[in-house]
Amino acid sequence: CRLVVLISGRGSNMQAIVNTVRDHALPAQICAVIANKAEAGGLAWARDRGLPVHAVAHRDYANRVEFDTALANVIDIHQPDYVLLAGFMRVLTPSFVERFNGRLINIHPSLLPAFPGLHTHQQALAMGVQWHGCTVHFVTPVLDHGPIIAQGIVPVIADDTPETLAGRVLQVEHKVYSNVVRWLAEGRISLNSMQRVQVQGIA
Ligand code: GRF
Repeated sequence: CRLVVLISGRGSNMQAIVNTVRDHALPAQICAVIANKAEAGGLAWARDRGLPVHAVAHRDYANRVEFDTALANVIDIHQPDYVLLAGFMRVLTPSFVERFNGRLINIHPSLLPAFPGLHTHQQALAMGVQWHGCTVHFVTPVLDHGPIIAQGIVPVIADDTPETLAGRVLQVEHKVYSNVVRWLAEGRISLNSMQRVQVQGIA
């Protein structure tokens, strides 16, 4: 199972994915790590581990369509089975999403459909929810909306700040995305006719 991972920053989710493929000797390979900025810390981490890396800087392109096209062309070099967005902070155009339809996965730091968009931990604290978490989902043209593959939950604690809550969610993100990568590698994830995700062996 050929995987390309897209990041924008430190790439801690990417690191968890790389480590889980290695530690569990999964039938998968990380073909490339791609960032939308050359200074993304995760690129250096991936390069140090001998992974192919690319920076496709959105600042180098006149508009969103040109950036997405350049990004898609770099991804296609590696012929991935799946493209994993992991802390990738760009909204992708519908044509990009269509080009990778069914193969594009993202992690969002909330229990979708609650709190789409940015500042999810502030949103959660503002609403006074008692449970929060993360969602790994297939990407569709509607932002933060695609078929849900897996979720992880964390308790919200009385004196939580957005930072303490984000840190608790991030730990669960790493676990959930690692599980999803294992299922992808084992070929256990499919979409049924109702566009609902089914994971073989999981109820
Ligand atoms: C994480 O907090 C995650 O919620 C979101 O992007 C942030 C950075 O993730 N997906 P990472 O450490 O770059 O994987």
